[in-house]
Formats: sequence, C-alpha cells, structure tokens
Amino acid sequence: METTIRQNIFENAKKWVYEAGKRIREQMQHEFQINTKSNVNDLVTEIDRSTEQFFANQIRTTYPSHYIISEEGFGDKINDMNGTIWIIDPIDGTMNFVHQKRNFAISIGIYHNGVGEIALIYNVIDDVLYTAIKGEGAYRNRDRLPQLKQDVQLETSILAMNSLFACENRRVNEKKIQQLIIDCRGTRSYGSAALEFAYVAEGIIDAYVTLRLSPWDFGAGLILVREVGGETIQLDGKPVNFLQNNTILTCNPAIRQRILTDYIEWK
Ligand code: IPD
Ligand code: CA
Ligand code: CA
Repeated sequence: METTIRQNIFENAKKWVYEAGKRIREQMQHEFQINTKSNVNDLVTEIDRSTEQFFANQIRTTYPSHYIISEEGFGDKINDMNGTIWIIDPIDGTMNFVHQKRNFAISIGIYHNGVGEIALIYNVIDDVLYTAIKGEGAYRNRDRLPQLKQDVQLETSILAMNSLFACENRRVNEKKIQQLIIDCRGTRSYGSAALEFAYVAEGIIDAYVTLRLSPWDFGAGLILVREVGGETIQLDGKPVNFLQNNTILTCNPAIRQRILTDYIEWK
C-alpha cells in the first residue's frame, strides 16, 4: 500500500475510533439491551451492533472499494484477502463490558492483499489507544513501544490464557497445560483478546495462548505485536488464517518454540 494512502486511512480510522469510543461511553450511561448468541455466556448488546454499524457506514461512504470482516453482521462475505480489508471487533470483551463496564476495547486491523498495514486497539474506558502502522513501529498513545526484549525466558514470563483450556480440554493434553502454568512465573486472564495482544506488544506479558479466536479478535493485535518484533501463529506452528477461527499463540519469539514443543500436545 502506498504511504500517503496508508496515512490517510490511518488518520480516518483513528478519528472514527475516538468518536466510537465517545459514543460508547455516552451510550453506556443509559440502559441497553443485552442478548445472547451461540450460548448463554456469549453476550452481545445493542451497543456492539450500533458501534459496528457506525464503522461500516463510515468505511462504505469514504472507501467504497474496501471490504469489511466483522463480528456483528455489518461486514462482507469474503473468500480471500485480496484488496483492502478492515477487520473489526466493535467491542472486544463484551462480557467485561456488560459485567464490569471496563476492560474492553475496539479492535481494528486493516490489511491490503493479506498484509497487515494498520492496527488500532482502543481501551475505551482508560482512554488508551494502541496503534501500529506497517514498518513504523507500535505506539501506546503517543509513546513508541520498544522492541520486545530478546533474553526472555519461560520461567520468568507471565502468560495470558482464557478458560477454553478448561472447557475444551479434550483437544489438548491438559496435563501439559498444567505444567506450563506451573513452569511460567504467572498467568493472567483479562477477558479481551485484543487487550491481551496489546499487553504482549507492550511487553507487560510475554505470551497469550488460546484454543479459539476469530479473525476480529486478533486482526489488529497481530500487526501491533509484529511491529515490536513479536510473533503470532497457530498452536500447530502454522501461520494464522484470517478467514476462519484459529488456535493462537502470540508471544515474544524467545519463548515460542519452548511453548509449542514442551507444552502443546494434541490428543
Ligand atoms: C471474546 C474476548 C475473550 C476471548 C473470546 C472472544 P468478544 O471476544 O476476546 O477474551 O476469550 O474468545 O470471543 O466476544 O467479547 O468480542
Ligand atoms: Ca472479540
Ligand atoms: Ca466483540
């Protein structure tokens, strides 16, 4: 993608993210409708939907040739990664949004012919915006994030995980996952994949590992982590696929092989 085009898209995306964040903060002052999707714990609110619709309207008006992959139904049916594609999660961490009124984020990753060009992850309540532009590094608000340290070891690492390892333990050897939890320094579960990617990029955790994420959960995070020298792959070591759900390991590359070789065993 040409630099000036990329910059123009970034500026608009940033403006829309701040605007959407402001709308969310206002809307959540009032009562809002909460529904469930695939199961009783899979929540969606009218604010998830209206936020995604807001982005879809802006993108379709300003960039009619661009495509959208998104969670709440305002996106396109996409069969490949050709062209410019916005991968959007209007609220990542809806359970936190509903129960805690914090710890959720807007997540937008913009890809051109399959290459990650722009990432924005906005912690709406803390007013912290993580951004990345291809080849220009990653930022937390105005502060550039340093490249990830190379001398990190698993024994002194903090890992983020979600409960899928307990819920879907028929797929992986849970004894090995238990050992991973024992061997690392500590584990965390923040409830927003996008924020967990941002924390890996920030270097405040060293890996985030999970059995299932959708493209909108990791589309932005992958770019952010890449820009500080981190890596995002599937748990079988293959590259991620943006057109389906994936197992995910995003991490400091210093501990990638150790996690995959010593702790991930498929049943
Ligand atoms: C969820 C969050 C959560 C992760 C789930 C995602 P949503 O996204 O990122 O942390 O564990 O797998 O589905 O539904 O709140 O957008
Ligand atoms: Ca999500
Ligand atoms: Ca969501």
